[in-house]
Amino acid sequence: MKKIIRNGTIVTATDTFKADILIEEDKISTIGLNLEDADAEVIDASGNYIFPGGVDPHTHLDMPFGGTVTKDDFESGTIAAAFGGTTTIIDFCLTNKGEPLQKSIEKWHKKSNNKAVIDYSFHLMIGEITDDVLKELPRVIEKEGITSFKVFMAYKNVFQADDATLYRTLLAAKEYGALVMVHAENGDVVDYLINEALAEGKTEPIYHALTRPPEVEGEATGRAATLTDLANSQLYVVHVTCAEAVEKITEARNNGVDIWGETCPQYLVLDQTMLEKPNFEGAKYVWSPPLREKWNQDVLWNALKNGNLQTLGSDQCSFDFKGQKELGRGDFSKIPNGGPTIEDRVTILFSEGVKKGRITLNQFVDITSTRSAKLFGLYPQKGTIAVGSDADLVIFDPNINRTLSSETHHMAVDYNAFEGMEVTGEPVSVLVRGEFVIKEKQYVGNAGSGQYLKRKKYGEKDFRLTSRVK
Ligand code: URP
Ligand code: ZN
Ligand code: ZN
Repeated sequence: MKKIIRNGTIVTATDTFKADILIEEDKISTIGLNLEDADAEVIDASGNYIFPGGVDPHTHLDMPFGGTVTKDDFESGTIAAAFGGTTTIIDFCLTNKGEPLQKSIEKWHKKSNNKAVIDYSFHLMIGEITDDVLKELPRVIEKEGITSFKVFMAYKNVFQADDATLYRTLLAAKEYGALVMVHAENGDVVDYLINEALAEGKTEPIYHALTRPPEVEGEATGRAATLTDLANSQLYVVHVTCAEAVEKITEARNNGVDIWGETCPQYLVLDQTMLEKPNFEGAKYVWSPPLREKWNQDVLWNALKNGNLQTLGSDQCSFDFKGQKELGRGDFSKIPNGGPTIEDRVTILFSEGVKKGRITLNQFVDITSTRSAKLFGLYPQKGTIAVGSDADLVIFDPNINRTLSSETHHMAVDYNAFEGMEVTGEPVSVLVRGEFVIKEKQYVGNAGSGQYLKRKKYGEKDFRLTSRVK
C-alpha cells in the first residue's frame, strides 16, 4: 500500500525542510508540498523530524567471544536497533584461520536469515593472508557484495593478525576496491601488561582499562595509518576512544592519507571511573579499547564536529551481567568485552550532540546514517531521503524527555550501559523499505523481513538509483 508522511520536517545530511513524502512499494517516489493520493495511508508527522534510517556500521550479533556468545542475536538485536531508529546494520563476520572464507560467510547468513527485521550486510574479518584467502577475495567482493575487511591488531591468540597481514590486506583492498577496517590497539603490549597486572594480583575490572592505556591505541592507529599510506590504500579505524588516536588520524588525513574514523556512544558519554563500580559492576563497562578519562569526551565531540571523525558505530556486543560478564570475577581478562548500545546510539547523538549544541542537526544525520552508507557502498539506496531511495525512514519526536533503562529497552541483555541517563528525543515510528517495523512505539515487524545487502566497491561513484525491484 502507498503511504504519505505529512507535515514532518525532513532532515538530510545537507538540508532541513518541510515537505510530504510519498512512498510507493519500497521506495520514496515523491517529495513535495501538499501531496495527495487517494490510495495512500496518511501518517501525520506534525512536530516531528523525519530522518533517513540510521546506518550502524559496527555490530556483533550472535557472535562467539570471550568463552560465550553475545546475548543479542539478529532478531532481538535488530528489533532493538529499529526501536532506536536504525534501519541498516553492518555486522562483523568472523573467520577462522585455515578455513575457506565462504564457510564463515555462510555461517553468518544462517545466523541472520529469517531473523533480521531490518536490512543488513557483513564486514569480513581477515585473520591471515594466504594464497587461498587472496584467491577468494574477488569472489567475496563480486558475489557476496562484501566490500570491507576487518583486521584486529589486538586480542592476541584470538583474533589478532600480524602487521604483514594488515599490509597485504591493505594492498588487496586497493586492488579489488574494498575498505580495510582496524581494531587499533597494540595487542602484544596489552598482552604483556595484562600478564604483569595479574601476576601482581590486580584482578578487578578497572585493570582492564589500566592495561590498555591510550598510548597503545595511539601507537596502533599511527602504525595502521602509516601502512595505509605505504600501500596507497584506504583505512577505517573502528571505535576511536582517545586523543592519541584522534591525533594520528587527523595527522594522516592532513597528509592526504585516505583514512576515516568512527567513535561510539559509550566513549562520548561514559568514562573510565565506571569500571571502579563496586560489587563487580565495573564489568558492565568493559569494552576494548576501554572507556577513557573524561576529558577525552571533548576531544571526540570536537573531532565529530570538525570532521576528523566521521561516523558513529554502536559496537553492539552484548553480554548479560549475570552469568556472562561474571565469567571474569577474579580475573578481569576473562570478562567478555563489549556492551549493549545498538538501541541508544541514535538518540544519544541527538540528545547529547544536537540538543546540547555540539553538532548540527545535519551533521547528526551524516554521522548516524549518511556517511556510513557512503563509505560502505550503500548510498544512495540507504542513508538519505531522496526520490528513488529505499523508504527507510524514522519519524522522530525531538522534544520528548525520557530515561534510558533496561526496564524499557528492547535488547535481550539484563542491563543497560546508559542506565538512568536522561535523554531528549525518541523514534516514534520506523519504516524499512516502506513497511512499518515500529509504529507509534510498538513493534509491528516480522522476523526475517530484513534483507541482506550486497554493497558497492569502495569509492565507486555510481550513485544512480536502481529501479524498483519487484
Ligand atoms: O569490547 C568490544 N569492543 N567488543 C566487541 C569486539 C570489538 O573489539 O569490536
Ligand atoms: Zn574492536
Ligand atoms: Zn566491535
